[in-house]
Amino acid sequence: MIELKVNHIHKNFGGLQVLSDVSFEINGPELIGLIGPNGAGKTTLTNILDGALKPSSGTVYLNGKRIDPFPPYKVAQAGLGRTFQVTRSFRRMTVLENLYVPALAMNPTARQRDFQERAHEVLEFLTIEHLKNEFARALSGGQQKLLELGRLLMLDPDIIILDEPFAGVHPKLMEIIYQWIHRVNGEGKAVIIISHDMDTIFTLSKRLLVLNYGDLIADGGPEEVKRDPLVIEAYLGQEEEADRAESSAHQKRSSPQTTESSEPENPPQDVSGERDA
Ligand SMILES: Nc1ncnc2c1ncn2[C@@H]1O[C@H](COP(=O)(O)OP(=O)(O)OP(=O)(O)O)[C@@H](O)[C@H]1O
Ligand SMILES: [Mg+2]
Repeated sequence: MIELKVNHIHKNFGGLQVLSDVSFEINGPELIGLIGPNGAGKTTLTNILDGALKPSSGTVYLNGKRIDPFPPYKVAQAGLGRTFQVTRSFRRMTVLENLYVPALAMNPTARQRDFQERAHEVLEFLTIEHLKNEFARALSGGQQKLLELGRLLMLDPDIIILDEPFAGVHPKLMEIIYQWIHRVNGEGKAVIIISHDMDTIFTLSKRLLVLNYGDLIADGGPEEVKRDPLVIEAYLGQEEEADRAESSAHQKRSSPQTTESSEPENPPQDVSGERDA
């Protein structure tokens, strides 16, 4: 049985408090959305869960084992894998070699041929089998995301965190990523998906965690979270800010006699920028 326990995580960068007393549990193959405005701390939390960052205080247990002191490779061995908001691959290796590296790193006594069948099956599922001998650097942004998902399938973790898997991805690839998520979840893995695409994340997830500037302000089913006043405020707050920026830019444009006329004219800022990316 998969079990993740995140207990009272705090994280400061110098004087900046980025996570404040974040606690939650995952029990079994849950499908969870992790949402929150830009800078809310989603990626920082992921970096703590996968061992890349150490919390300022708090603990993380995976299947009964304390993992927060572990480096990332040990966290991966313990059963937690993640993808990156900005994709990472071995750019000078082929697509196939990129799949072998994590599998061999996790199983040092194994040989490449032990993973051959699995690697081909994974590439076929992701529809990039024809690219197997290409260098990873030759892939498009969306294909790089698929390659990262392929590497996770080679590792076979219990819990997977996907950091913005849909951002900037062609709808066709998005459909493959959707299928990928349902497949691994159906195989009994827990999946946490970070996304700014509200329609997708509310449809896909059975449970939502909402971070707002370091605080976990909601944890529940999509319908419940949608109605949560704190969540509405966190998101509406953003929209109001955007409205204010828009209206103040408009006022400046429409009143040339303003005493601050020497100020450069700024276009209205789209603070929701990445949300639909
Ligand atoms: N290494 C670091 N040093 C200092 N500050 C950092 C560091 N990493 C992140 N931060 C800050 O921590 C805050 C949370 O950042 P984080 O990347 O976790 O947010 P996020 O929720 O993933 O945002 P986004 O939706 O834009 O990806 C931000 O204010 C960010 O500038
Ligand atoms: Mg992020």
